[in-house]
Amino acid sequence: EKGGYASFMLKEIADQPKAVADTLLGRVGTSGALHLDEVRIPPHVLREVDKVVVVACGTAFHAGMIAKYAIEHITRLPCETELASEFRYRDPILDARTLVVAISQSGETMDTLMALRHAREQGARVLAVCNTNGSTIPRESDAVLYTHAGPEVAVASTKAFLTQLVACYLVALYLGQVRGTKWGDEIRAVVRQLSEIPRQVEEVLGTMEPVRELARTLADRDTVLFVGRHVGYPVALEGALKLKELAYMHAEGFAAGELKHGPIALIDEGLPVVVIAPSPRGRSVLHDKIVSNIQEIRARGARTVVIAEEGDEAVVPYADHLVRIPAVPTLLQPLVATVPLQVFACELATARGNEVDQPRNLAKSVTVE
Ligand code: M6R
Repeated sequence: EKGGYASFMLKEIADQPKAVADTLLGRVGTSGALHLDEVRIPPHVLREVDKVVVVACGTAFHAGMIAKYAIEHITRLPCETELASEFRYRDPILDARTLVVAISQSGETMDTLMALRHAREQGARVLAVCNTNGSTIPRESDAVLYTHAGPEVAVASTKAFLTQLVACYLVALYLGQVRGTKWGDEIRAVVRQLSEIPRQVEEVLGTMEPVRELARTLADRDTVLFVGRHVGYPVALEGALKLKELAYMHAEGFAAGELKHGPIALIDEGLPVVVIAPSPRGRSVLHDKIVSNIQEIRARGARTVVIAEEGDEAVVPYADHLVRIPAVPTLLQPLVATVPLQVFACELATARGNEVDQPRNLAKSVTVE
């Protein structure tokens, strides 16, 4: 069943190009128009929506954080992303014009289920993004957009995450389409570029040997930090979560701009810091900022591991280790930038002698609050 791989996790990482392609299949027309007839919330209801709220846990929450960037950028609707376990306890403001997007691989996560029940009681519409056909969360939602990752067996979520991202981009683009958001060239480029992603993820997977080697050299470390900006920030959080759950190491993700507000005090000689560099094309202000962040980190003795787009030369002088990823539009970068972090965590955990498919203290789906 592991298809020749040493673990389900390795197989599921390798399955990602197909999982992404399957999630796109039949949903994007040749003209770039989206066909999401399965989202059974009538267009007039979607046109009335004045706020989007995304709820999820763990890795799905990180997908939700990225969804916020995509939804706000593409639709200009305000969007907030909240941990499902916190959501209903803060008495959130919801009504019939709120669209709640509940993201869950299993469709059985109790925190997410309770959040969506609360949202529906307040009159909000709920759209589930889910990987498990007929599970509780889609059954209790107004509509569902299934991710087609196939069954995910390893406790650590990998291919489900990438397909959740794809589904969230589709939701953002579909909302834009239905609501008549002006389709700029940038958005058209995003639609076109999505179909390239399976090939680009394959490309990343083919270049992972140096990442595995690096991971093995870090097996005896106590701490690894991850930093990013914009959509690279949730990617940093996801990289840290993977390392915690698989390698049982202290790992933290930060927004790079926050470093100087405290976390930079953690950096000392030889501390590994993984930096997700935004594309130098497009919003280059972000890129300039990350270059100075890397300089600051390195000046304090950190060992920098920089994940940067092909052709990004500005980061080279400050990278102790450089991991190249294909050039894609900023919004889509998490689809290619997360892959090396999954491989890194899996290899590091294996080097530490851990069981990667079934980490200690964890269950695949958390059906208690
Ligand atoms: O099934 P769900 O997507 O609702 O699960 C949510 C989290 O429990 C899950 O993503 C968890 O964080 C993973 N173990 C992360 O790898």
